[in-house]
Amino acid sequence: MNKIAIDLGSSVTKIYKIGSGIVLVEPSCVAVNTADSTVKAIGKDAKQLIGKTSDYTTTVFPVFEGEIVNEKLATTMLNHFLYKAGVKSGAEAVFCVHCGFDAGQKALYQKIASGCALRKVSFVESPILAGLGDDVPFTVYEPAFCIDIGHGVTDIAAFSSDGIIAGISMNVGGGSIDVHIIDHIADLYGIKIGSLTSESVKVNVGSLYDTDNQSMIVNGRDIASGKPCSKVVYAPNLFFPLQTHVDKVIEYALLVLGKLPAEVSAVIRKNGILLTGGMAKLAGIREYFEEHLQMEVHVGDEPQMSVILGGGRIVGNPDLLRRVRAEV
Ligand SMILES: Nc1ncnc2c1ncn2[C@@H]1O[C@H](COP(=O)(O)OP(=O)(O)OP(=O)(O)O)[C@@H](O)[C@H]1O
Ligand SMILES: [Mg+2]
Repeated sequence: MNKIAIDLGSSVTKIYKIGSGIVLVEPSCVAVNTADSTVKAIGKDAKQLIGKTSDYTTTVFPVFEGEIVNEKLATTMLNHFLYKAGVKSGAEAVFCVHCGFDAGQKALYQKIASGCALRKVSFVESPILAGLGDDVPFTVYEPAFCIDIGHGVTDIAAFSSDGIIAGISMNVGGGSIDVHIIDHIADLYGIKIGSLTSESVKVNVGSLYDTDNQSMIVNGRDIASGKPCSKVVYAPNLFFPLQTHVDKVIEYALLVLGKLPAEVSAVIRKNGILLTGGMAKLAGIREYFEEHLQMEVHVGDEPQMSVILGGGRIVGNPDLLRRVRAEV
């Protein structure tokens, strides 16, 4: 029987299979025929169609800001990914979920799991998994602190091997930054860019180092004339949208840190915090957090994979799973 971990991210789905490691990393995207609702493409094939579809096709992200918003398409998508990853029916699965996971979300996940022929499912909150995935030492006496900045959600939590001590989940992430970049570039240059271009400019040029000045040519539509046009976008042009959202995360992290019991606070101050999620790959973000939190900040080699790697660890460790799984 396969034992797997599944992270149904707002932007990227990741699957880990015991014995094989990470077996799938694909955009959580489905292209659907608007006339008869049939599925035209799933994963990277679907994401490539964003902003280029005719009236007959629409692209859907079945998970939006961390919530399952289209159970049927989420099931179709996950079934396709499990098949592609060679996962057999009847697998035991751990789902990586956000802080504040509730009974309503659990019911939706369980429907999806049964639609995908998964046998036994458990749920564990992302910060704990990120800590495990990045080998952060934590025990029942020695808590840890993690900030996971994904596409639709940022999870911030202090936790021990007994579970979450204090944590929150907020709807800020790479997705809200992409939207802000689109508006900001429109204001600066009078050019409307699409969401794929916005994500690409954020990943390739975005930086929180105020000395960075790398650039990229972006293509879009001139707002005044309606004609296709190109502009060079420089790193400092993106600083404001990036800083606005990252500052919000820092504000909430300080709020959680400020409410921790004194003993927990002391350990975290000594050991520092872990930063994970796709946004942890942004240039300069570690240093920016260190400066604003006045604490040591650690970023692993592959921060976007920390949570799913932790999922893989925990599905193979029933004792720890029993202790930290989310019971709602
Ligand atoms: N090098 C990079 N610099 C900045 N952002 C990046 C980089 N690489 C990826 N990202 C962003 O990280 C986000 C995806 O991260 P991640 O896979 O952790 O999210 P997710 O798990 O799908 O979403 P969520 O956890 O919010 O449901 C996207 O917004 C993507 O554009
Ligand atoms: Mg995530």
